[in-house]
Amino acid sequence: MTKNPAFHKRDPQYKKAKRQGYRARSAYKLLDIQRKFNIFKRAYYILDLGSVPGSWLQVAKEIAEENLEKYKDANYHRDYYRIMGADLKRISPLEDIKIIKMDITTPEFQAEITSYFDDKLDLILSDASINKTGNKFIDQVRQVNLCIKILVLTKFLKKKGNFIIKCFQGEDINKFYKRMKLEFKVVKSYKPKSSKKNTNEIYIIGLNKN
Ligand SMILES: C[S@@+](CC[C@H](N)C(=O)[O-])C[C@H]1O[C@@H](n2cnc3c(N)ncnc32)[C@H](O)[C@@H]1O
Repeated sequence: MTKNPAFHKRDPQYKKAKRQGYRARSAYKLLDIQRKFNIFKRAYYILDLGSVPGSWLQVAKEIAEENLEKYKDANYHRDYYRIMGADLKRISPLEDIKIIKMDITTPEFQAEITSYFDDKLDLILSDASINKTGNKFIDQVRQVNLCIKILVLTKFLKKKGNFIIKCFQGEDINKFYKRMKLEFKVVKSYKPKSSKKNTNEIYIIGLNKN
């Protein structure tokens, strides 16, 4: 997020998000990822990690609602969607979405997942981000450590489920990438077009959980 609010408000993506009713411009990163990898294919049970202010939850709900209509066929289908969003900070309510204010790296959070979803998840999204110190090296190491803790939650994914997670580019990312390869058949890294050029954020996409 930019430190200059006046500059932020002049940003075309920010203005577009406001016009389209999204809580943040980050919505377009998720939409870019969806266009490229179709991560939401047959996704109804969705967990969003690090959700504040909630634009990814808005996108997830739109696509899950479309999926209820789109995939009425003999293949995998659920009759309703379930979406849960979690953050350390308070998330403003969104209709039909379960919201939790909690540290996603705790055992208590895992208990919340089990009690809300009566079956395994189809998709996990993580845009969770550490509080940056400004030191790229330290921030990258801390973000990778957060990613490693979040990766544990993929045990709640169904077989063939999908996962995306925000990471920061740097040396340690290879360590995380290797761990992802143990869990998913296909692993890719991607910087969405709508991600600011001056950030080192990158998304790691895990498709087809083993
Ligand atoms: C970039 S924001 C997410 C933006 C969101 N995807 C959206 O579209 O509105 C990252 C969030 O991750 C949250 N976060 C970081 N570490 C967390 C943790 N351990 N538990 C819960 N939330 C965490 C932060 O509080 C922050 O709100």
